[in-house]
Amino acid sequence: MDIVTSVTALRERLQREPNNVFVPTMGNLHEGHINLIGIAKPKAACTVVSIFVNRLQFGPKEDFERYPRTFRNDCDKLRSAGVDVVFAPDEKEIYPEPQTFVVEPSDLQHILDGAFRPGHFRGVATVVLKLFNMVMPHAAIFGKKDYQQYLVLRDMVRQLALPVEIIPAETVRAADGLALSSRNGYLSPAERAEAPRLYSLLTDAKQRLAKGERNFQRIELEAMSQLAQHGWAPQYLSVRRRADLQVPAPEERELVVLAAAYLGKTRLIDNIEVTL
Ligand code: PAF
Repeated sequence: MDIVTSVTALRERLQREPNNVFVPTMGNLHEGHINLIGIAKPKAACTVVSIFVNRLQFGPKEDFERYPRTFRNDCDKLRSAGVDVVFAPDEKEIYPEPQTFVVEPSDLQHILDGAFRPGHFRGVATVVLKLFNMVMPHAAIFGKKDYQQYLVLRDMVRQLALPVEIIPAETVRAADGLALSSRNGYLSPAERAEAPRLYSLLTDAKQRLAKGERNFQRIELEAMSQLAQHGWAPQYLSVRRRADLQVPAPEERELVVLAAAYLGKTRLIDNIEVTL
């Protein structure tokens, strides 16, 4: 496994590769990331993983400074997973000057997570486009836990005609249902024990929809109130149309229920797809 930190070294290393599949990450890797690598590996001779905590996608009051940086440990995991190239640039390498040109996603960036994290998806799309230009992959893998991010990036690739296939990957969960996330490490033992409630409420919502309930608002409000009763501060729990995350018509069959809520100081997100 080669570890490169500069764009020059990355391009030199990848010159030897006819094609590569890319898994962008912010490090602090867990089984969810290893699953993405497992999907990437059979698709090309070379698997590239980037580790870069992207300041541009964090709000001023968010956890950029305390976001866990575990580089050595990450490299051990990547080596065992059979990754070929790790790209681990520092901030100056990605942003040698203030980033005045940015990727402005569609209105999708302003709803759900975007309403609570203004500028987040602009920051994600901008860094991912830059990373694509550096790595020049033929495909890239993104987890569906960040459902809105996956859709924003899928739209970016389509609208800007980027020669990259975006491959979505299913969410990896702990045995109790909690979606794996680097931020789970912030949870206290008591919060960790409470955390699976989010997925369990999404599962309940899915069952109600499957049974034919079409009062989306009632499903949403009852689940949010359950969260609040158990000490969470919910931001949204919302039934949406899967294609574009708009509010669905009652006859819509391809849905996704998405949620974001604070448990203590930790913001957790999750979602569940529903096909009727
Ligand atoms: O999902 C993430 O880890 C990040 O948003 C990404 C795609 C690596 C961009 O910084």
